[in-house]
Amino acid sequence: MRIALACVAVLAAAPLAALADEAGSALAATCAMCHGTTGHSVGGNVPLAGMPKDEMVSKFKAFRSGAMPATVMHQIAKGYTDSQLDQLAAFFAAQKK
Ligand code: HEC
Repeated sequence: MRIALACVAVLAAAPLAALADEAGSALAATCAMCHGTTGHSVGGNVPLAGMPKDEMVSKFKAFRSGAMPATVMHQIAKGYTDSQLDQLAAFFAAQKK
């Protein structure tokens, strides 16, 4: 009985995880122009791949509030909600450096 329940839980969790990942990668596509595909920057911009989730969230919020100096990230950071930021940060943190 316990085993059967565990299987149901695993099956139910899988599509949710896949959905979250898909949403994160769709959001991340808007960063690719400057930070590279999946955060692997080629043009000298800061690479985002492998950046720890907490670091990304705090830097992004610092851009949003203006606390961190920026040229373009102030405007960009204002365009995302906290839950979108969460998805973005999770996506980039999961990419190999
Ligand atoms: C138009 C180009 C452009 C786009 C699009 C862009 N960025 Fe940036 N990003 C920059 C630049 C340039 C910097 C350096 C700070 C500045 O001058 O604004 C930066 C800095 C950052 C940093 C700080 C990195 C560090 O360690 O200092 C983070 C985090 C970041 N961007 C995340 C994102 C995310 C997430 C997206 C997509 C939602 C994104 N950026 C889209 C140009 C861009």
